[in-house]
Amino acid sequence: MVGLHTSRIETGSVQIADTLVLGIETSCDETAAAVVARDPVTGRGRILSNIVRSQWDRHRAFGGVVPEIAARAHVECLDEIIREALRSAGLGLADLDAIAATAGPGLIGGLIVGLTTAKALALATGKPFVAVNHLEAHALTVGLTEGLAPPYLLLLVSGGHTQLLAVDGVGSYRRLGTTIDDALGEAFDKTAKLLGLSFPGGPAVERMAKGGNAGRFPLPRPMLGREVPHFSFAGLKTAVRQTAASLAPLHGTDVADLCASFEAAVAETVRDRVVRAMRLAQLPSTARHLVVAGGVAANQRLRTALEALCGEQGYTFHAPPISLCGDNAAMIAWAGALHLTLGKTDALDTPARARWPLDADATPALGAGRHGAKA
Ligand code: KG4
Ligand code: ZN
Repeated sequence: MVGLHTSRIETGSVQIADTLVLGIETSCDETAAAVVARDPVTGRGRILSNIVRSQWDRHRAFGGVVPEIAARAHVECLDEIIREALRSAGLGLADLDAIAATAGPGLIGGLIVGLTTAKALALATGKPFVAVNHLEAHALTVGLTEGLAPPYLLLLVSGGHTQLLAVDGVGSYRRLGTTIDDALGEAFDKTAKLLGLSFPGGPAVERMAKGGNAGRFPLPRPMLGREVPHFSFAGLKTAVRQTAASLAPLHGTDVADLCASFEAAVAETVRDRVVRAMRLAQLPSTARHLVVAGGVAANQRLRTALEALCGEQGYTFHAPPISLCGDNAAMIAWAGALHLTLGKTDALDTPARARWPLDADATPALGAGRHGAKA
C-alpha cells in the first residue's frame, strides 16, 4: 500500500505446549498484529511474528495524528496485517489459545476497529477474547523481552502518557506521579513542529540533538525538587518557542543546539522525578528495578541518564529493545497471554475506552481538568 511502512521484527519458533495469543493494536497511528508464545512452565515468552504498519505518511502533512484518517487507515489494512502475522508465525486461527486487542486508552475510532475485529475472530473461532489496556501492555513488555516479573518501578513515557507507577503485580498498579499538562512525547512532537522538524517529532529531535551543544541554552527544568513526582512540560516547550523566536531566522546549528538543550532539560527533570518515585514507591529491596517503557523510551539520552541514575541508586535498569518501545501488537498479545494465564478473559460486549487509567484510584494531579490530568 502506498505511503505505509511495514516492519517485521525477529521471531522464534513454536513449541507444542506453548500458549499462543494473537494481539491486535490500533489505538493510535500504528496498525499492528502479532503472535506471541508463552511457555506455561517457565513463564517465558517468545515473539513468533510482529507486524507493525505505521501511518506516518498519512498524517505528516497535518503535523500530528488525525483521528478520522487513522481509523480509516486501520480499516483498510487490518485484515491484511493479521493475515501476515499468522502467516509469518506459521499458524492458523485454529492454533491460537486466545485473541487479544487493545480496548483503550486511545483514539476511539481506531480502538473500535481493532476491538471489533478481535471480537469477530473470537466469536467465529470460539476462542477466548482478552481486552487489553495499552498502558498495561507497555508496562509488562519487559516480561516478554527479559523475563522480568513485577514488582518494579515503571516510567511510562509515550505520546499520550507520562507516568511513574509502582507495578506491584500483573493488574496491580500504584500511580506515583503523572503530568499536569503535556505528555513527554507530546512535548517532543510540539518542539519538533515549532522548529520545523518532521513528524513524529521525538526521533527528529533526537537526530538533530546529536550534533548540538546541550549547554548553549539554559532551558527550565520544570518541577525539579518537588516532593510528589509529577511532571510538567508545557513551560519547557514555551521556553523553546521563545528562544527560537529570539534567534529567528534559525540556522541549522541553532536548531541542533535547541534540540540538545531541550533533551538535556528533559533528562535532568525526569531523573529528578524518578529519584523521588524511588523513595515513594516503597518496593521490597528485592525489587530495585527501574523499567522505562513507551515510545519516548527509545530516546538514547534519556536511557543513558536513567541508566546512570540506576547505577547511583542501586537499581537495575531495564528497557525494551527500541523496536518494542513504540506501539506494537507483541506487547498486546503478551498482556493477553498473562491475563489468560490468570483466567481473566473478557465478554464480547466489552466497550472501547478512550480513557482508561491504570490506577483508577489515583487522585487527579494538580492542574488536572474536569476529567483528570490531560495525559
Ligand atoms: O508509545 P508510542 O509509540 O505511542 C503512544 O502510545 O503514544 O509513543 C509515541 C511517542 C511520540 O510522541 C514520539 O515522538 C515519541 O514517542 N518518540 C520519541 C522517540 N521515538 C518516539 N521521543 C523521543 N526520542 C525518540 N527517539
Ligand atoms: Zn503506546
